Amino acid sequence: MTERILVTGGTGYIGSHTIIELYKKGYEIDVLDNLFNSKESVLDKIKEITGKRPRFFKIDLLDYEKMDKLFLENQYSLVLHFAGLKAVGESVEKPLKYYENNVGGTINLLKCMKNHGVHKIIFSSSATVYGEQPVPKLDETMPTGMGITNPYGETKHIIEEILKDVAESDPKFEAVILRYFNPVGNHPSGLIGEDPNDIPNNLMPIIMKVSRGEIPELSVYGDDYPTPDGSGIRDFIHVVDLAKGHVAVIDKMKPGVLIYNLGTGRGTSVFEMIKAFEKASGKKLPYKVVERRAGDLAEMYADPAKAEKELGWKAELTVEDAMRDTICYLNKIS
Ligand code: WQD
Repeated sequence: MTERILVTGGTGYIGSHTIIELYKKGYEIDVLDNLFNSKESVLDKIKEITGKRPRFFKIDLLDYEKMDKLFLENQYSLVLHFAGLKAVGESVEKPLKYYENNVGGTINLLKCMKNHGVHKIIFSSSATVYGEQPVPKLDETMPTGMGITNPYGETKHIIEEILKDVAESDPKFEAVILRYFNPVGNHPSGLIGEDPNDIPNNLMPIIMKVSRGEIPELSVYGDDYPTPDGSGIRDFIHVVDLAKGHVAVIDKMKPGVLIYNLGTGRGTSVFEMIKAFEKASGKKLPYKVVERRAGDLAEMYADPAKAEKELGWKAELTVEDAMRDTICYLNKIS
């Protein structure tokens, strides 16, 4: 019988790209989403790309009864858990909203899984859990939870600790924690991409809004960092590579908790991202340099060696590929 996977947050940016890769492996897909920061129409685009449309259930993770009914009526072999609030700045203003949605919602999900014999989960975590480290190149042996500068990052850390404790208590429980660096780009068809309902925090969706004239100019948060060009450096990974990392880990799951950084292993500065976007778009991107953003680190990027060694996965696409695909997406939505 074909395995059925539940994808929470499957109408979102990373979830939708991951579903495309899951379909290539022949899985059946159900999507649970509350559509707070995404649109159901993404599922039609997935059908246009793959020929298949996931079954959709508009359910909020905080609605335990509805979620329990879903698990009662369906046999899931695995849950990919993307659903969660992710605006770093908003999390500082509204911490309870983030702890309730992200942590409370995940606890509901894990209780439903346990009550219905679903033992496998892949969790969408973030490099933010590393907080401030003495070196910019981050590997999975480094401590987490210290110096996290926002409630969003804290929720990711707390959920990681919950998964570890559940695995300690249940020998059948299999969890994977995937720590994303900075996802960018979109499917080369340009049919799906990062299209948040809320005001974005992240660099690329803001660049996209500037290029569409929705925001007058990009504010570069500081050019006085101890980096070659003074701007911040991050590990910008193409979302298609990120999606493939989720598929690569499925066959390696086992009782306990597996943890992998999903990044390219290369750092790219904000100014380099601006130049790469201008090259791909063929036009100047208006920006101004302003003061640093509170909580930002100068430089961070992944050590991706563990995922390559244990999963046979590594990022293959470049920032230039991501910019090319972003322009294709912008042309289609404009
Ligand atoms: C990248 C660089 C900014 C916006 C966060 C989360 C992390 C993950 C990715 C979800 C930094 C600079 C940005 C702008 C700028 N989120 N920047 N002007 O902060 O590395 O990570 O998003 O999974 O968990 O912590 O990403 O895109 O906000 O910033 O100059 O308008 O771009 O200073 O150097 P960040 P980001």
